Amino acid sequence: MTREGPLTILGLETSCDETAAAVVRRHADGSGEILSNAVFSQIREHAPYGGVVPEIAARAHIEHLDGLISRALADAHAGWDDLDAIAATAGPGLIGGVIVGLMTAKGIALARGLPLVAVNHLEGHALTARLTDAVPFPYLLLLVSGGHSQLLVVEGVGRYRRLGTTIDDAVGEAFDKVAKLMGLGFPGGPAVERTATDGDPSRFPLPRPLFGKPGCDFSFSGLKTAVRQLAEAQAPLTDRLRADIAASFQATVAEVLADRVRHAMAMADLPEGARRFVVAGGVASNRTLRARLEAVAAEQGFGFIVPPAQLCTDNGAMIAWAGAERLALGLMDGLDISPLARWPLDPTAHATRGAGVKA
Ligand code: KG4
Ligand code: ZN
Repeated sequence: MTREGPLTILGLETSCDETAAAVVRRHADGSGEILSNAVFSQIREHAPYGGVVPEIAARAHIEHLDGLISRALADAHAGWDDLDAIAATAGPGLIGGVIVGLMTAKGIALARGLPLVAVNHLEGHALTARLTDAVPFPYLLLLVSGGHSQLLVVEGVGRYRRLGTTIDDAVGEAFDKVAKLMGLGFPGGPAVERTATDGDPSRFPLPRPLFGKPGCDFSFSGLKTAVRQLAEAQAPLTDRLRADIAASFQATVAEVLADRVRHAMAMADLPEGARRFVVAGGVASNRTLRARLEAVAAEQGFGFIVPPAQLCTDNGAMIAWAGAERLALGLMDGLDISPLARWPLDPTAHATRGAGVKA
């Protein structure tokens, strides 16, 4: 049964290394408003290991989630009675963390008699542009994060048509690995972007995997290997070399994404009035990539929408919003719902080939 009227939702996000809770309101006209958005980044916990350690992440979520929920409610000037539902990421992600968030949400739902909405983390990213910019369906989406690189047509809530995905590494993963091999620190994406600021993007030509090939799948592992070989050949790395390598890598990623997106725009076959292109996920906070993708959209006659950087990286507002969109359609979940490590947005999409394929 669909729900009329405003909906106020608490959303929990614990699928990777951000512990987050937020309160979001969906107004009766379908527009959204963020009432609070509390995020605790576990960077300090994972930095000594140069990457996210799942067991450490799960323990940190347990430690911080209760405090973040209190903060999110206080910041929103909301009490339990003001909530219409509780939403939590139920996958995909690091399963220990997903369990912490989903079980906490179940406990609250049971104790407070609130409906539970189990949210696909990817749907949280996919629908954020509707919270920030009220983008109508359908639209073309480039979802680029630490675990995923996909091009999808978003037809509605829960309705996705995947056009392409990576056949090996995700783009965020490539940023993280490049940062690590050049000793730039963790998390890698922002470190590469910072380092590239003063670099010469044309100094080192790098391979552009799948560039110009039919379709809109991605491949980043060959590019990452080429950067490794380049860094080894140029060692010891000076600050100048680091900047030029980072800038060359970033520019190559921008060219590859632009090419794949151009193909997807043709494949998506969207009607004239629905030529909208949305970018989401942590990598979408990169300014060079945003600028390149904006230029492609302009060239192909697509509107360009990208949420503010802090809503591209993982946060609770995107989960609360996806929960609100589902609740408005009457989509709720029972307390027997299980966390999922793997949960594709388009379960009908063909399996991709290649090692280390991500759904
Ligand atoms: O969406 P997200 O916060 O978490 C996942 O769902 O994976 O994305 C995290 C990914 C990481 O790989 C991180 O290095 C990358 O997004 N990232 C960036 C930037 N900020 C975060 N990549 C490139 N440039 C950035 N500024
Ligand atoms: Zn994410």
